[in-house]
Amino acid sequence: MKNKTILQYLQENHIIIDALCNGQKKCGKCKAKVLNRNINLTEQEKQLLTTKEVQEGICLACFHSYHSDDQIVVMNQKMRITDDIQETLTSHHQGIGVIIDIGTTTIVMKWIERCRGKCIESVSFINPQVSYGGDVISRIEYQNQNQTSYLHDILVESIENQLIEKNKEINQIIVCGNTTMIHFLLNEDVSSLGVAPFHVPQKDMQRINSYDIFKRYSYQCEMITFPHISAFVGGDIVSGIYANDIDQLDYPVLMVDLGTNGEIVVGNKDSLLVTSTAAGPAFEGVGMSCGGGSVSGAIEKVKLCPLEIETINHQKATCICGSGYISLLKELVEKKLISPMGKLIDKKDFYLTDHIFINQSDISHFQLSKAAIQTGVHILLENSKVDTIYIAGGFGSHLDVNDLKVIQVIPEDIKYAHNIGNSAIKGCYKLLMSQDFERVNAIVDKAKSINLANYEDFEDILVESLYFYD
Ligand code: FES
Repeated sequence: MKNKTILQYLQENHIIIDALCNGQKKCGKCKAKVLNRNINLTEQEKQLLTTKEVQEGICLACFHSYHSDDQIVVMNQKMRITDDIQETLTSHHQGIGVIIDIGTTTIVMKWIERCRGKCIESVSFINPQVSYGGDVISRIEYQNQNQTSYLHDILVESIENQLIEKNKEINQIIVCGNTTMIHFLLNEDVSSLGVAPFHVPQKDMQRINSYDIFKRYSYQCEMITFPHISAFVGGDIVSGIYANDIDQLDYPVLMVDLGTNGEIVVGNKDSLLVTSTAAGPAFEGVGMSCGGGSVSGAIEKVKLCPLEIETINHQKATCICGSGYISLLKELVEKKLISPMGKLIDKKDFYLTDHIFINQSDISHFQLSKAAIQTGVHILLENSKVDTIYIAGGFGSHLDVNDLKVIQVIPEDIKYAHNIGNSAIKGCYKLLMSQDFERVNAIVDKAKSINLANYEDFEDILVESLYFYD
């Protein structure tokens, strides 16, 4: 079998690297430095690098095979190997750090060996708070009615159990999540997050002792939470902006997180507009008759007439994940099997296998999520023209941006799409490795949060967005 490239190694280990052409040896973005051996650059590679980069020993990660003892430093536009960074990467940052993304539905945790930036353990599990409401508003209501620390307790317990089970001595924890989740984690009062004017009690980056939260875990270390922008736009989005360098781009891009809170960002180095919409968890397959996460066996792509389905890892079909629903809806639209308002033409449940189907109530549920996202995109793009979209969320690799155009979630003029996966966790990773807290705080200072409900034509745009096609 062919050896994997350095780029493939980095991707497999969730180490962020700019790789615009995804290893096609065309873009020249995947710059890295291998510290433990000399790399002979090819002529083609030299053409893609500056003379200075060649002199500094920088190579392109997709041109070279990975050796098992390689020590690699990933470069990006803002990061050059200097003695400082070298020292930071090789001596200052020893030990293990944990990064955590607390989603409303799913929690992701990764243990990172800090000197090499390598992920050594990874888990994801359902947020135990889902039993008390699928979205943040119902959890805030539960909290207001019951006035206990129960939602804090079960959240902390679920994360702490993982820390105890893996039993690794860690020296820093970096957490991101939406504003409500982080408030639950910190045991802060969430009541003001659910009512106008949506006051946020803890807005800034918190740097506390992990023992304040995880009392049963025997190792103490610094725990850092990403700062929030508003009650609706949390640290997970700040993390996503940071992970994808949106705050440093010359040209504006649209970033959409198709998660339960449906956060949307439009911006670049000059300005950042952010909002969130109550999309609900339909894009994550939750609340749908046969929905599920992006797990092995989930249907992630559908073709109709004749019926063809593709499942994740080519396993026997078990459910339909978010990208599967988007693909299926696009087919139902193109084959005119639903009306513009999403009514199944022959009024029968639509089967993809003998037990996996979509029915009218699933379509209506999905339609509300789609309309919420579409409305936010429409309003944020009112004064900007963008041709590039970054799509975040736990989707199968097959999410096709054209499917989103067909069902009208995003405008036709989007030409370039990047599936950025869970960019919140990538931002945590990047912060763990860079310790660039100042830049993260600067993102929050620059961002302007838009409350969609205050927008004059909000209702009209929302109603129009319910249409799947004209
Ligand atoms: S990923 Fe584009 S050149 Fe390596």
